[in-house]
Amino acid sequence: MDVEGTTSLVFSLKENFRGLVDALKLFQNHNVNFLHIESRQSNTGSGDDAFFVLCANKEGNLKQAINDLRTISKTLTTQESAHSHDGQESTSVPWFPKRRDEIDQLAVNILKQGERLQADHPGFSDEEYKARRNQIAEIANNYKFGLPIPRVDYTVEETNTWRTVFTELRRLYPEHACREFNQNFQLLTDSGLYTEDRVPQLEDVSNFLKNRTGFRLRPVSGLVSIRNFLAGLAFRVFHAMQYLRHPSQPMYSPEPDVCHELMGHVPLLADPVFARFIQEIGLASLGASAEDIRKLSRCFWFSVEYGLCKQDGETKVYGAGLLSQFGELQHYLTDGPELRPFEPSKAAEQTFKLTGYQPVYFEAQSFETAQAQMRAFASTIPRPFTVRYNAYTESIEIINQKSQIVNLVKEIKDDLDLLEQSLKVIE
Ligand SMILES: [Fe+2]
Repeated sequence: MDVEGTTSLVFSLKENFRGLVDALKLFQNHNVNFLHIESRQSNTGSGDDAFFVLCANKEGNLKQAINDLRTISKTLTTQESAHSHDGQESTSVPWFPKRRDEIDQLAVNILKQGERLQADHPGFSDEEYKARRNQIAEIANNYKFGLPIPRVDYTVEETNTWRTVFTELRRLYPEHACREFNQNFQLLTDSGLYTEDRVPQLEDVSNFLKNRTGFRLRPVSGLVSIRNFLAGLAFRVFHAMQYLRHPSQPMYSPEPDVCHELMGHVPLLADPVFARFIQEIGLASLGASAEDIRKLSRCFWFSVEYGLCKQDGETKVYGAGLLSQFGELQHYLTDGPELRPFEPSKAAEQTFKLTGYQPVYFEAQSFETAQAQMRAFASTIPRPFTVRYNAYTESIEIINQKSQIVNLVKEIKDDLDLLEQSLKVIE
């Protein structure tokens, strides 16, 4: 087997759904990450579902995973790729989207999220809740990027959950959230988009963000891989859940839900400086090695999700995980968790708890410092090319030729001319 590049697998299973769960676990057991996964109609004429999986050869023990997969498969073909996913010559660079029409490939998620709730999830044994989640998740499964996001007719119970979350958190923000967050949260409430009476619709919020910073929301039915999530940010696309947490625990959710996205993330996505910062993390992730994605994801976790910063001598919160959970916010205010100075190289090595309250938080000297530190860290990620986002064509440009650099210089010169003219006018 080629140790470089990628391997694609197409398989059908002896037991369709149960077998798929086993197959996914099997890849997980051998630390093999998917670059892409989708279900396809089998071409054997059997009517079975077939699954197409693209794996990076370098990650985990792929050879053993394939051997194990054979024991639960009806059919299995493998192909080592001399070409990468998009037909370009293969290198060991993992696939990433380069065009707008490839964004939907980031959200491939073939399991219904409600069917894999963990035993400690508050909705684990609530069949009605799981069915409702799956109903809302179907919107994301059928969604194509660029189309209006279908609206959800949220129930009275869901609206009550939102009201509780919104009311309680809103009360805490003035004292605990960072300045930039509060400024943008104010805009969301002043515009009438955020009220306690109704769950804001992703389509409306996405349009609001588009007008503010060019960010757009894309509904997703479950967790996408961190690599894919970060790749979306490079396009200023934020993958967002549309369903609500379980009504029994409005103050805590073991996973992202629409409250987490709307209360935790959206206000800062509406901030032009933060939007550029978070896009830069996304750009740094494109084509990065599995090890560098792991480091970036931990830095992301301890900054964008759970970051703290000093402002006017006080500790303020800018992390969405804290700003969307009353319980976690209260936990951080106790003496229990440890506060460490934010240093990306250290955060990159710090493990974190995916569920439950965090035992460690990182505090930056300031909101601006945190962004500068992350930027500097992201720029150390080694790649044989650089990338930039072209907002006109909504595509990622790979810069690896002198002629492209010449064009870049021309554009920068034009910008400088504009700057010079503007300064003259203002003078
Ligand atoms: Fe989040």
